[in-house]
Amino acid sequence: MREAEWLLEAVTGQSSWEIKTFRQKISDEHVDRLANLLERRRSGEPLQYITGIAGFRGIQLHVGPGVFIPRPETEIVAEVAMARLPEDGLVIDLCTGSGAIALSIAAERADARIIATEQGPEAFQWAEKNRVALLADVQILEGDLFAPLDPTLKGTVDVVVSNPPYVAKAEARRLPPEVIDHEPHNALFAGGDGLDVIRRIARESGAWLKVGGWVVIEMGETQADAVRTVFQRESFSEVTIDRDLARRDRVASARWPGERTAS
Ligand SMILES: C[S@@+](CC[C@H](N)C(=O)[O-])C[C@H]1O[C@@H](n2cnc3c(N)ncnc32)[C@H](O)[C@@H]1O
Repeated sequence: MREAEWLLEAVTGQSSWEIKTFRQKISDEHVDRLANLLERRRSGEPLQYITGIAGFRGIQLHVGPGVFIPRPETEIVAEVAMARLPEDGLVIDLCTGSGAIALSIAAERADARIIATEQGPEAFQWAEKNRVALLADVQILEGDLFAPLDPTLKGTVDVVVSNPPYVAKAEARRLPPEVIDHEPHNALFAGGDGLDVIRRIARESGAWLKVGGWVVIEMGETQADAVRTVFQRESFSEVTIDRDLARRDRVASARWPGERTAS
């Protein structure tokens, strides 16, 4: 019911409360457009692709086919990253997708210097669109993890933050059709155990971080032990796990550097 109201609002540009309270007449054109959107929703298309908008920590992001829809649990990733970020600090958001984490940090931390990277060409275009719409002072670069960054930034980064792909290939059949049939697969899957991209972030971040800097990443709710081991093996210390609102392990933070452990 609430979704139908959101679609009504998307079509008319008015609040459904206003329409109901003042018994406003809806034009035939709007009725036809609403019927079309309801049919798309019934066939499984994500609501946010239909409205073209997703909310994230108080900002509105443009989304559509080709980009991952930001999720509420990732709001906690941004929060933990900001808590780890010193005044005037430099943060790199890897795998930025729509730009959710980078652009929300820009909205909340005017002191921060923010650079984001994204490999998917379509997702990169969505991130750029959002950066322009929000007039955000964020640099968004297209490419693989750290590859597009200026090498002179090595050793200067305070926080590397990321919500990377972390679903294991074998988990594909457990994902709802709304996700697997519509969202880009390179946003979801990362090898046999889902940790391929997280392992690369752990291996490559040390070169970019300041001593005492942090990596903050989102992970699957069953991956905390494996992720802790991944970071400890790459010489990180103080691996800390934060939970989402449903009390599931979701966010790992690790400090550079720690002691290297035998692998
Ligand atoms: C789970 S989505 C997260 C998007 C966004 N950070 C968010 O939280 O909404 C993962 C993103 O990583 C991108 N990606 C996957 N592999 C990458 C790589 N090697 N380098 C950069 N981006 C990558 C995907 O295209 C996708 O946009």
